[in-house]
Amino acid sequence: LEKVAAIQFDRVIDIAKRRGIIFQSSEIYGGISGFFDFGPIGCLMKRKIVDSWREFFLTPEDRIYEMETCTIMPEQVLRASGHLKDFIDPATQCKGCNSIFRADNLIEESTGQFVEGMDPVELTRIISEKGVKCPKCGGELGPTRIFNLMLATNVGPVEGSIAYLRPETAQGIFVNFKNICGSTRAKLPFGVAQVGTSYRNEISPRQWLIRLREFRQMEIEMFINPKAEEPPQLRQFSHVKLPILTREAQAGGGQPIELSVEESLKVLPNKFLAYFMAKELLWYQQLGIPKGAIRFRHMNPNETPHYSKGNFDMEIRFDFGWKEIVGNAYRTDFDLKTHMANSGKDLTCLEGEEKVLPHVVEPSFGIDRTFYALLLYSYRDDGRGWEWFAFPPRIAPYLCAVFPLVSKDGLPERAEGIYKGLRSDFDATFDSSGSIGRRYARSDEIGIPYCITCDYQTLEDSTVTIRNRDDSSQVRTSVGDLPEVLGGLMRGDISFSAAGKPMK
Ligand code: GAP
Repeated sequence: LEKVAAIQFDRVIDIAKRRGIIFQSSEIYGGISGFFDFGPIGCLMKRKIVDSWREFFLTPEDRIYEMETCTIMPEQVLRASGHLKDFIDPATQCKGCNSIFRADNLIEESTGQFVEGMDPVELTRIISEKGVKCPKCGGELGPTRIFNLMLATNVGPVEGSIAYLRPETAQGIFVNFKNICGSTRAKLPFGVAQVGTSYRNEISPRQWLIRLREFRQMEIEMFINPKAEEPPQLRQFSHVKLPILTREAQAGGGQPIELSVEESLKVLPNKFLAYFMAKELLWYQQLGIPKGAIRFRHMNPNETPHYSKGNFDMEIRFDFGWKEIVGNAYRTDFDLKTHMANSGKDLTCLEGEEKVLPHVVEPSFGIDRTFYALLLYSYRDDGRGWEWFAFPPRIAPYLCAVFPLVSKDGLPERAEGIYKGLRSDFDATFDSSGSIGRRYARSDEIGIPYCITCDYQTLEDSTVTIRNRDDSSQVRTSVGDLPEVLGGLMRGDISFSAAGKPMK
């Protein structure tokens, strides 16, 4: 953890740009802050993160269906959901340079006082009493005003039909609840997931992928009978210890306490939350985030979202401090009830003879923040200018790269043949340009775990070398064994030294 705090994150941002992982959006025109694009390598990795999440969370036992809904929604939906009224942040404008800032963040940064959720009058008072000034020009700050975070647009050729870019993917699921129930005939508990883009007109976007205006979420809305005891699969995770930062600990500057899943049920507002929290902890560890860098923070009442009866958000320790990465909310029947009242449609479902309005437990994952954490915790450097990402093999953009040692004497053709043979079963890439050292460096920079090199010996005995990204060690193995060896390495069934004959 200490190493992570010391990482020069600018180095990571530089590689990410140079190697096609993340680009500033519309950069050639100067871009707008809070918008980033995934490059060719970033796109491959994002797909793998999402696939890994689907495999881990959207299991048939949990009956979690996936859907994809529109990103623009009519005003009625977001009025009913409470976003029009309550999805707000406090803003203050500098009287000198006119820059606009989030008032609560500014106070927290300059005084250390935690003020999220306080009303604007209070924030204005604190700014004046504590002498908080504009961080850009040192000027005086104006009164704090409330600012709605949704981005509005007009639909159709005639002005006046206001719609909003969705601030969360969840609403598309709630307004479809009747369709989902009717088409799947699913019985409670069941879930509906969505992976997609959400938009928030953040007052001051910053910290690279952390606070964006357009970002990507993976959300699960788990619909449950409010009388349900606990998720059927919960006991599978009874061995997991959850690091929970209680409200009392936060008030007293204390540390998280480790609670077993069983013990956590006493502090969580709903038992289904424990189930998802245990799985989140395991999944993020699989991505390479150490357990010590993960905690679940019980949000204080003034920062709990308007729709939630209690949030235990998963936070990760980043280079700049702790930050929420998964929102875990007990949304109760808040959303279905309001959409039922406002649309006039019956959104209950039948449980036996009884009509039930389901409650909702929601884990909401941010893809961009997950990506930031993955890059941060995978970044390595040897102190002599060699840098690489130790991505888990399943998340790396490619599992292996195939190289000819030199570009002559039939080696490129032989290497290409090997590459083509592997491509149908593995994510493999081929590179024949530049010296072999440069090719190793380039593949390390995008975290490819294994480089397969075809040399003169390959022409004689059909063996190749495999180089391990993490320590540059090499083994020699036969081309015929490559599929089995690579499969074993990817699954973690074999160690690298067992992948072939060690080389000096
Ligand atoms: N549907 C619930 C919901 O949206 P949230 O806590 O506001 O809850 C969930 O957001 C996750 O989405 C966050 O934990 C974070 O990872 C991501 N997220 C939210 N706002 C973001 C922003 N402005 N930029 C990047 N990611 C964001």
